[in-house]
Amino acid sequence: MKKILFLLFLYTITFAQKKTFEQRADSVLALMSLEEKVGQLVQYSGGWATGAETGRPSEGSDELIRKGKVGSFLNVVGAEQTKKMQKAAVEESRLKIPLIFGLDVIHGYRSTFPVPIGEASTWNPTLIQKSARMQAEEASSGGVHWTFNPMVDIARDPRWGRIMEGSGEDPYLGSLMAAARVRGYQGDDLSANNTILACVKHYAAYGGAEGGRDYNTVDMSERNFRDFYLPPYKAAVEAGAGSLMASFNEIGGIPSSASKFLLTKILRDEWKTDAFVVSDWNSIGELIPHGVAKDLREAAILGIEATVDMDMEANAYYNHLADLVKEGKVDLKLVDDAVRRVLIAKFKLGLFDDPFKYCDVEREKKTIRSKEIIDATKEVASESLVLLKNEKNILPLSKDLKSIAVIGPLANSNEDPLGGWSGLSNKDEVVPLLEGIKNKLGNDVKINYAEGCKITGDDKSGFDKAIEAAKSSGVVIAIVGESSGMTGEANSRATLDLPGVQEDLIKELHKTGKPVVVVLLNGRPITIPWLQENIPAIIEAWYPGISTSFAVTNVLFGDYNPNGKLPVTFPRHVGQVPIHYNHKNTGRPHDPTNHYTSYYMDLENAPLYPFGYGLSYTTFEYSDLTLEKNQIKKDESLKVSVKVKNTGKYEGKEVVQLYIRDLVGSVTRPVKELKDFAKISLQPGETKAVEFTITPEKLKFHDINMNYVVEPGDFKVFVGTNSVDVKEASFTVVE
Ligand code: NOJ
Repeated sequence: MKKILFLLFLYTITFAQKKTFEQRADSVLALMSLEEKVGQLVQYSGGWATGAETGRPSEGSDELIRKGKVGSFLNVVGAEQTKKMQKAAVEESRLKIPLIFGLDVIHGYRSTFPVPIGEASTWNPTLIQKSARMQAEEASSGGVHWTFNPMVDIARDPRWGRIMEGSGEDPYLGSLMAAARVRGYQGDDLSANNTILACVKHYAAYGGAEGGRDYNTVDMSERNFRDFYLPPYKAAVEAGAGSLMASFNEIGGIPSSASKFLLTKILRDEWKTDAFVVSDWNSIGELIPHGVAKDLREAAILGIEATVDMDMEANAYYNHLADLVKEGKVDLKLVDDAVRRVLIAKFKLGLFDDPFKYCDVEREKKTIRSKEIIDATKEVASESLVLLKNEKNILPLSKDLKSIAVIGPLANSNEDPLGGWSGLSNKDEVVPLLEGIKNKLGNDVKINYAEGCKITGDDKSGFDKAIEAAKSSGVVIAIVGESSGMTGEANSRATLDLPGVQEDLIKELHKTGKPVVVVLLNGRPITIPWLQENIPAIIEAWYPGISTSFAVTNVLFGDYNPNGKLPVTFPRHVGQVPIHYNHKNTGRPHDPTNHYTSYYMDLENAPLYPFGYGLSYTTFEYSDLTLEKNQIKKDESLKVSVKVKNTGKYEGKEVVQLYIRDLVGSVTRPVKELKDFAKISLQPGETKAVEFTITPEKLKFHDINMNYVVEPGDFKVFVGTNSVDVKEASFTVVE
């Protein structure tokens, strides 16, 4: 008998394991009432709000959970707290379906990594995968199952404050970063207790907001959308992302949260993913002000019909979906499909097998701020810094200086270096740069500190003290930029200058004749032509996170050689925006001898710093750009190689970049497109050969008939240290 039971047990286990996630989800679905189904599609915030608080149901969270009226919470954290709520779900609700807890783990949970645009400046997808892995380790130990990241919106307009949350302007770099983050968060086994579900956002083209004003209208051709904006979302989905977030914006008259084109045609029919879609905060409710739904009931119909599976905070599904089904206004199949996708995610996470596996208080204690995670923040922060200027090698500074003036409104801040979306980070654990510099140099170097001015406002009363500090020091380090609250959601700016009187302050410091090194902390490209013209050294630090002082002081004093590259173009003036390196040639490209060409009367076209730009303490020489062949067939790949030599004194890393240009197409093509890059490390005097492969996939675009193809014709290939300083060669593609 025992033997038979054992065999039966074995059979059940094997059979159960053989069941697909879909079958397992269906077996749960079969038991559910309509109200319980709708409950799985409802998400509420258990904590803070990132948008208008919408009319909540009168029941408290526990009551909703017990009644099976909610399937997910966001902003609930901590192993203990999530355990309490999960217990109510799996012990007190009729069907015992586990909750899924989501959170914006954007660049860290408790230990903050650099903001995503800083991470993208590393041009090191392997490192960014590691960053996401560490973030997942920490967040999962705190009960979080699901991060609303990666944010993969291409952004060509620095006025848009959310440019900070993404990877910049380029679809190729953006796609690699997107996929790396998904792999990092989700790991190899989503059911492990240290992996979390990724959520690709904001689907789609949220970064294309007109005028760079957050939440604003997006309108673009399908070709532009598919060739430049869509690739990072696709790359993230191909990397296995388990969910996506529908964006706030409309595209071409249809809000994303009601867009069958985006959510059904592209996502389901073309990409064939079973990833589930959550709305953005109240984005189903916002179908009313968008003007496509007259009330929340209509909004619920539009949302579910477009396949927005989960309603974050709009109450549209909670209040109306069951009635709409009963009245025959919404097909039950739409609800079933949405619930199935949500349940599949819960199965993939292993929550049905062990709903409490993320709720281990001991693991939480051991993991939060573990050495491994903090070390990773240091590594990423170091690689994220971009050296914009270093005239006469004024950097690195000598540690033997007698005195240094540390000046600026960001010098003594322990909050701003974290950047926006800094999760549960604690500013008391951040060492302000002023203190970091003091710690680095010890007591033998006199530090003369003055705030100088505030980040915003026009008060110059602190200038005199700052000038005095500069005069009595050997060198000035000015730490200026934007407060962390000036970028991120709803933080758009109409100007891109250094805010307030900070540039005036630097002008005064410059007048003292002392060498000035500027360290920028900011979350978007800013317009600093005067600085570039007059200040000998500039470091773009972005917001490096918890390890700001470690990374920045190592670069300032030569313990680390900077190697970051800009993932986004820096304009000279806001009037140049949108400005991006992969623009079209136009029918009248600028010709200085011809007035009737494409240019500004009052400003040159060129940006201040091009895409891909960033200096090193050493120098690199490129030579021997070689193409394996000069002619390939449409379905063939082409090998391209180049030699890179470290011609300077320091060991250094270089990002070798490869761009192409398709000279004549059935539709116009950009003047340059990044298609590959390699980050290499070279000792002084060392030369390395770098080889790239241009595959047919890299030559494809949407042709005149919107087919995604390689078109025969002549191409240029460019290889270099940024998108402007390149060597070039040519090849032809034949049928
Ligand atoms: C609104 C933001 O647009 C989105 O990025 C975020 O994930 C949600 N709020 C949840 O906090």
